[in-house]
Amino acid sequence: MAELLSTQETIEMFDKYVVANYGRLPVVLVRGEGSYVWDADGKRYLDLFSGWAVTSLGHCHPKLVAAVREQVGTLIFMANHLYTQPQGRLAKLLSETSFGGKCFFCNSGAEAIEAALKLARLHTAKEKYKVLTFEDSFHGRTFGAISATAQSKYHQGFQPLLAGFEYLPLNDLDAVRGAADDETCGILVEPIQGEGGVNLCTREFLQGLRDLCDERGMVLIFDEVQTGVGRTGKMFAYQHTGVVPDMMTLAKHLGGGVAIGALVAKPEVAASMKPGTHASTFGGNCVAAAAGCAVIQTILEDHLLDNANEVGGYAVAKLRELQQRQPKIRQVRGLGLMIGIELAESGAGVFKACLGKGLLINCTHDTVLRFMPPLTVSREEIDEGLAILAAALEEVD
Ligand SMILES: Cc1ncc(COP(=O)(O)O)c(C=O)c1O
Repeated sequence: MAELLSTQETIEMFDKYVVANYGRLPVVLVRGEGSYVWDADGKRYLDLFSGWAVTSLGHCHPKLVAAVREQVGTLIFMANHLYTQPQGRLAKLLSETSFGGKCFFCNSGAEAIEAALKLARLHTAKEKYKVLTFEDSFHGRTFGAISATAQSKYHQGFQPLLAGFEYLPLNDLDAVRGAADDETCGILVEPIQGEGGVNLCTREFLQGLRDLCDERGMVLIFDEVQTGVGRTGKMFAYQHTGVVPDMMTLAKHLGGGVAIGALVAKPEVAASMKPGTHASTFGGNCVAAAAGCAVIQTILEDHLLDNANEVGGYAVAKLRELQQRQPKIRQVRGLGLMIGIELAESGAGVFKACLGKGLLINCTHDTVLRFMPPLTVSREEIDEGLAILAAALEEVD
């Protein structure tokens, strides 16, 4: 085990050796268990954000730890020109819990988006290359993914972007119908926008996109990198609507903290990705795939979708009660354990005050506080977090 450094020593090491592309807060986390993490000074934090919706089972869940330990001691890695069993098992679990698709594995959400964009072009007619995406979307930081992301702040300094993307207002079917032409190969949409501020697509909108894709020979891609694998109280968010995509991207929750991304595509669409068209050295590696299997099996065995619905509903009800007493809260919205609290003002100060009081949440889109606790979270932990939030809202001017 490496020697434990102090907060100051760790920050100095980062200042000297790590690229400063993140606006980091001065907290060094060294340990986690369930919904809690501890910093290098021994202070405990309640983690109701799960590191951007990654630690789906909480920190160091015993079933995840056991699965990773066992795999690490058996076979850590073998390349994709041969077969390995954890990858096959994870693909089966994903297929059986979704729409019977086939999986391509990679290591992150952005890579899953790249795979989806490439497959959209491969699968549709030769002249088709354009993709329609939506205002306030977020799809990742690679060139394809930032080009798909309709928020100009992510484009600054990187133009020219990849050609062929058109950005449209969310939930505006007429705009989509007007924009789709003979060169459009697909539509990419988050069923609930995460970074954009927890904005829900209506069922009618998603059904309209489905119908349009069917009419015009385009593919419908749901970006479930943030919403997938239990976050919204169903295994995948599209399952709330009954509208089935041609492809779905996953990452974040899937490994419970171990890096993995996946593209799930209907078998007839997946068939267009032939040997040599796409690849990832580490994609679907044994350890990440074993982690993915443990996450999905634990969600099923421990009824964590029920917990997400039950505790998520409780959290929303409690937040709406708080809204009655706290005029800074404009709206509470979300599904399952993906919850956004729209404030009447910037949330940056509240988020920092929560951190100081030992609560990890997030502020996105300037005014939206976001809660994405682990799927294992309890009502008592929600109560503890909301008491801190209420105090922080009172305190911040
Ligand atoms: C909806 C969505 N898609 C894609 C991504 C990119 O994922 P990653 O950071 O793993 O590349 C994110 C990350 O926040 C996301 O929320």
